[in-house]
Amino acid sequence: MKTLPAALLLLSAPAFAAGFELGGNAARGAETYKTMCSSCHGATGKGDGAASAALNPKPANFQDAARAASVTDEYIYKMIKNGGAANGKSAMMVAWSPALDDGKIRDVSAYVRSLAPRAAPTAPAADTTGKGTEKATPAKAKKK
Ligand code: HEC
Repeated sequence: MKTLPAALLLLSAPAFAAGFELGGNAARGAETYKTMCSSCHGATGKGDGAASAALNPKPANFQDAARAASVTDEYIYKMIKNGGAANGKSAMMVAWSPALDDGKIRDVSAYVRSLAPRAAPTAPAADTTGKGTEKATPAKAKKK
């Protein structure tokens, strides 16, 4: 399988800058989030779960694009894996590494990431649909 590493590089290109590849599958992470995280972080990630009333500091709003852009994938991953205390944050955010294996932590991290609209577009994915060419061709090119 000599071509596999090259394929992986292509898939994870946007993560290069940080030197950390989160990977993970947001759709799979959604289930973990619902059962283990939403009580504090809220059903839609706004930090308004039922248990959040008693929390100080409150969990961050995962839908806040500016906030999301200010933290790295690696930070999100480490907060979930090692907990708040290990990262100089609230110990109310526990370490999930005993409960979740690394794959599940990456999945739920990806889900958290998926909740915020991207503040700035990342590199466009390779166009495999052929539809991209419609957009790339200016409409006025058809005018005479
Ligand atoms: C008991 C409540 C509670 C539960 C359950 C909980 N968290 Fe948290 N989480 C917090 C609190 C409080 C913070 C804020 C810590 C701080 O800022 O000091 C936090 C912070 C975070 C952060 C850092 C966000 C940022 O932008 O700084 C992430 C990511 C996160 N939690 C993900 C999760 C995930 C994923 C789960 C489920 C596997 C989860 N949390 C479960 C309370 C909780």
